[in-house]
Amino acid sequence: MKAEELPVPSDVKSLLGRSCVNCHSDQTTWPWYSYVAPVSWFVERDVRRGRDRLNLSQWPEYSLKRQERLLADIASVVKNREMPLPQYVLLHREAKLSDSELETVYRWARLERRRVKAASAISPRPENAMQRRVSQ
Ligand code: HEC
Repeated sequence: MKAEELPVPSDVKSLLGRSCVNCHSDQTTWPWYSYVAPVSWFVERDVRRGRDRLNLSQWPEYSLKRQERLLADIASVVKNREMPLPQYVLLHREAKLSDSELETVYRWARLERRRVKAASAISPRPENAMQRRVSQ
């Protein structure tokens, strides 16, 4: 991840890399079974819907409000073991988070959310949208 992307400590980064980025970033490594119909339709659908909700590759383009909400969502889906999707974990044991790994991601998401919240209080301007306009 580049500097302007989601600031993630290296331990959290490797967990997100292992468990989330295949469906929540532009860096999808398509598994072999994703080439086999009809499984491929489900895999593509999961990745498309996953990216729609949260695309870590597009993090810098999200408004601070949206980042804040997504960080709260990340904390809650991890805590409730809703993510990574159970059907994915069945085929990708490496994506499973242990209790302590889950706790690591959870605590980071909560902390990062507080940081983003503080930043948006200081700068309520939708600065990300502004940056986008300038660069277009
Ligand atoms: C196999 C693909 C896949 C993996 C792996 C995966 N997700 Fe998801 N994720 C999805 C899909 C699909 C949705 C949309 C679910 C829906 O619409 O009901 C989603 C939704 C979400 C949402 C939004 C929740 C909401 O209520 O809208 C968050 C936050 C999220 N995922 C975080 C994560 C995190 C964090 C990880 C890793 C620990 C992860 N996901 C791993 C596919 C995945």
